[in-house]
Order: sequence, then C-alpha cells, then structure tokens
Amino acid sequence: MRRPDPTSVERSLKEDDFIVSKTDLKGRIIYGNKMFIELSGYTEEELLNKPHSILRHPDMPKVIFKLLWSRIQNGQEIFAYVKNLCKDGAYYWVFANVTVTKDMNGNARDYHSVRRKPHPRALETIKPLYAKLLDEERSGGLEASERLLNSILQEKGVGYDEFILGLHQ
Ligand SMILES: Cc1cc2nc3c(=O)[nH]c(=O)nc-3n(C[C@H](O)[C@H](O)[C@H](O)COP(=O)(O)O)c2cc1C
Repeated sequence: MRRPDPTSVERSLKEDDFIVSKTDLKGRIIYGNKMFIELSGYTEEELLNKPHSILRHPDMPKVIFKLLWSRIQNGQEIFAYVKNLCKDGAYYWVFANVTVTKDMNGNARDYHSVRRKPHPRALETIKPLYAKLLDEERSGGLEASERLLNSILQEKGVGYDEFILGLHQ
C-alpha cells in the first residue's frame, strides 16, 4: 500500500478517548479498538496483519522507535509521544503506553499500546525535540540522534522515563 502524503490537517483526541492496539511479536497489528480504526481512516481489514509502521509519520525520529523496541523486547513498558499518519495524510498526536503481555511461562506473547490525548504543554517540548532529533538523523544517522537524545537527557540530569513522565505534570 502506498504511504499517504502528509498534510497539515490535525485530528485531535478528546480527553476521554482511548486508542488501543495490539501487535504480535513482530509488530504486526492483531487488534485495534473502534477508536483506533476510525481515527486511522483505514478499515479493520486494511490494518489487521499489517506492520504497525503503516501509521508511521515521517516527522517521527527513528530513535524513539528504537528505544520502544529495545524496551519491550526486554520485557519493559515504555511511555512515548507519537505522531501518527492517517490514511488521508492527516496526523494525530498521542501519548502512548506500550506494554508486553506474557504467557503462562513468562514468555512475551504480544504487545499492547494504550494511547490518550497528550497534554498540550508536553507537546511544546516534544515537537522541537523531535525536530532536532530528526535533523540529526538526516545528517548523521540513527547513532547521531541517539547520542543527541542521551546528551539532552544528561544535561537535564534525568533518564528517559523521568523526562517523559515529567512533561505533563
Ligand atoms: C504495540 C505497538 C504499538 C505501536 N504503535 C505505533 C504507532 O502508533 N505508530 C507508529 O508509527 N509506530 C508504532 N509502533 C512501532 C512500529 O512497530 C515501528 O517500529 C515504527 O512505526 C517505525 O517503523 P520502521 O521501523 O519501519 O521505521 C508500535 C509498536 C508496537 C509494538
């Protein structure tokens, strides 16, 4: 499927909207709630069994997804701000919590993402940060943006979680 050209149309979530999706261990969508499907503009059939990157917006720095995957493959959860691309090129911002569901033997079974409306104040920090990381990625690759993210966090004297969770307080 051809990736849509991004437009400047923004879709906003309501305070009590919850967008849920579930993937297999390879990141293919195996479930999406009604809100997730409707907001994306795709049909359920178009989304199921597709890589979750079907919603990837080109403004998202790769380093955030690298962090996401390294966390969940390690059995840990992650909170992240994500800008997603709809089928018609519009976008929406979410604050996502991605977690691992384990089977009875403690092995990872699938991944879950629950998203809600981001606090506008948090996005004031996230948008310029992601723009900087993306710039760095374009000129120096993923390693350069990883270095930049680490140095920004180091300067602030916080880890990633503390930084992210502190943004909407
Ligand atoms: C449960 C779960 C939910 C995800 N949700 C999104 C999402 O909403 N948007 C997105 O771009 N990537 C999401 N991802 C990450 C994608 O799998 C992928 O790593 C990302 O889109 C970058 O794609 P790329 O690695 O092909 O560049 C999710 C991954 C998991 C495991």
